[in-house]
Amino acid sequence: MNSLQDRIARRRVLAIISHPDAGKTTITEKLLLLGDHIQIAGTVKGRKTGRMAASDWMSMERQRGISVSSSVMQFPWRERVVNLLDTPGHEDFSEDTYRVLTAVDSALMVVDGAKGVEERTVKLMNVCRLRDTPLFTFVNKLDRDIRDPVELLDEIESVLGIACAPVNWPLGMGREFRGLYDLAKDSLLLFPGMQWQKAGAAERIAGLHSDRARDLLGNWYEQLCEEIELVLGASERFDRGAYLAGKQTPVYFGTALANFGVRELLDDFVEFAPPPRRRIAETRDVSVKKAETAATLPSREVSAEEENFCGFVFKIQANMDPKHRDRIAFLRICAGEFRQGMKLRHCRTGKTTRVSDALSFMAGDRSLAGNAVAGDIIGLHNHGGIHVGDAFSSGENLKFRGIPHFAPELFRRIRLRDPLKWKQLQKGVAQLAEEGSMQVFMPLRNNDLLIGAIGVLQFELVTHRLREEYGVDCGYEPVSVRLARWVDGEDAKTLEQFRRKYHDNLAIDAGGHLTYLAPSRVNLNLAMEKSPDVAFHATREH
Ligand code: G4P
Repeated sequence: MNSLQDRIARRRVLAIISHPDAGKTTITEKLLLLGDHIQIAGTVKGRKTGRMAASDWMSMERQRGISVSSSVMQFPWRERVVNLLDTPGHEDFSEDTYRVLTAVDSALMVVDGAKGVEERTVKLMNVCRLRDTPLFTFVNKLDRDIRDPVELLDEIESVLGIACAPVNWPLGMGREFRGLYDLAKDSLLLFPGMQWQKAGAAERIAGLHSDRARDLLGNWYEQLCEEIELVLGASERFDRGAYLAGKQTPVYFGTALANFGVRELLDDFVEFAPPPRRRIAETRDVSVKKAETAATLPSREVSAEEENFCGFVFKIQANMDPKHRDRIAFLRICAGEFRQGMKLRHCRTGKTTRVSDALSFMAGDRSLAGNAVAGDIIGLHNHGGIHVGDAFSSGENLKFRGIPHFAPELFRRIRLRDPLKWKQLQKGVAQLAEEGSMQVFMPLRNNDLLIGAIGVLQFELVTHRLREEYGVDCGYEPVSVRLARWVDGEDAKTLEQFRRKYHDNLAIDAGGHLTYLAPSRVNLNLAMEKSPDVAFHATREH
C-alpha cells in the first residue's frame, strides 16, 4: 500500500535541541550515518576533518565554527522517512531555533551527562512546551565520568517539569562503562570498547539473569543487578500517550561520539514519535485576494491527510550555495501532497504561481523535489516576496497560527559609510528583516534605521551579509533604546492620541507595525500605566 495517507503516516519531523557542546552535532552526524546519508563522520560541522560542512553554508559560520543557519536533512529509517531540522547551536540565533520548533512534530533533547540540564536547554524546553511538543531525551557522553544517572533524571524532572521514563540504564560509566541495559526488553548491549571484549561490534545479550551476562559483567554483576532493580521499582514506564501529550519523556543513555545507543534511540523514535500532527489555521474568504483584507472565517484544524496541499514558511535563507546566489524559503507541508509544476496560492499576497523548481533536502544536498507530502520540507525560490510565516495552499485562503516574532533585546543604529549606497542599504535591510535575520525599526521622527537583535552575533551577521550580498559597507552606533513593544488598540482615536504623545519613541517595523521603543523599563512601565487602552506586545505572530 502506498497511498498518500500511508506515505504521510511514515513521516517524522524532528529537531534536536541542546545546550552548546552537549553533542547535538555529533548525534546528528551519527543519525545521518545510520540513515546512510553521509559516509564520513565529521561532515556535519566539518570540524577537524577540514571538509566543507553539510549544514554550514555560510562563510561566516565556517569562520566561526558555529551553526548560524538551520538546515534540513531527510533520511529513511525502517520504512519511515525522518526529516531532521537542524537548529542553530549559538544562542544569539535563538529566534531561528524557535521558528524551527514551530515546524517540527517532535524534538530530541541531548543532555551532557556530566553537566546535566543547562541554561539553554531550559529556554528551548519552554518553547517546546508552548506546543506540547513530544520529547525524546538522550543523555550523552557515557564514555566519560558523568553524574549519577538517578540524580540526572531527578534534575530533568524538577528543572524541566517533565516526567522521565528511562528506557535503558547505563552499566557503569567513563573508563568503567560496560554497556546499556534495556529496561523494557530485559536485554544488554555491551560496549565494544571494553577491553575484555575482543570483537569491535557491540554484543547483545538476552536477559540480565543469563549466564552470559553474569560471565561478562563478572565482579560488577551483583551491584548492577541491585541498581537496576531499584531503578525498575522507582521509575515510570514509558507511556506513549503521556509522551505524545508532552507530559513524559523517554530517556536514553549512550555516547554519540562512540555511536553507542544511538541506533536504539532511532529505532524507538521512528516507532513512537508522532506522524505529522494537526495544526490550527485561520481561514479567510477565498474570493478576496489578499489574506490581510479578507474577512476572517472561523479557525479550523488542518489535518495532514487532507487531499489539498497547504503549508507555511518557517525559515528563509540566503545564498545557501554561493554559486546560486538565491534565497530559499523553507516550507513545511502541513497537508496533502506537493507535485512539481503545481499551482500554489501565496495566501498573504493572493498571487497564484506555478512552482516547478521546488527543492527537497537530502542532508544538505539540494535536489529538485519530486513529490513531497505532509511532513516534508520543500524549498521555494524566493525573489523577495516571501516572508517567514507565509502560508501557501492549493486554493484555500489560510493563515497558520503560532509562528512567533520576539521583541529584540539589543538595538543599534546603522551607520552607512558611503551615503550613495542608501538605496542598496534599504533593500538589503528590508530583505534581511523579511528573512528574520534581525528586525528593523524606522523611527517616526527621523530617517534612521535601527536594527534590533536577540544576540550580538546577529549584528555581525547583518553587516557581513550587507557587505557580501548587497555591496554595502556599514557599521553601528549605540542608540538609547532598551526595549521594544508592538502596540495596538481597539479604538482608533486612543491610538492616534498615543501616537501623538509618544511620537518620538515610536517606530514602524519591517512589517509596518507600530512599535514603542523604550529607553528603559521604567519608561515602558510609565507608558503602559498612562495608556491603559493601548496593548503592548512582547511577541507578535508573523
Ligand atoms: P554541539 O553540536 O551540541 O555543540 O556539540 P558537538 O557535537 O559539537 O560536541 C561537543 C564536543 O563534545 C565535541 O568535542 C564532541 O566530540 C564531544 N562529544 C560529543 N559526544 C560525545 C560523547 O559521547 N563522548 C565524548 N567523550 N565526547 C563527546 P570537541 O573537542 O569540542 O570537538 P572535536 O574537536 O571533537 O570536534
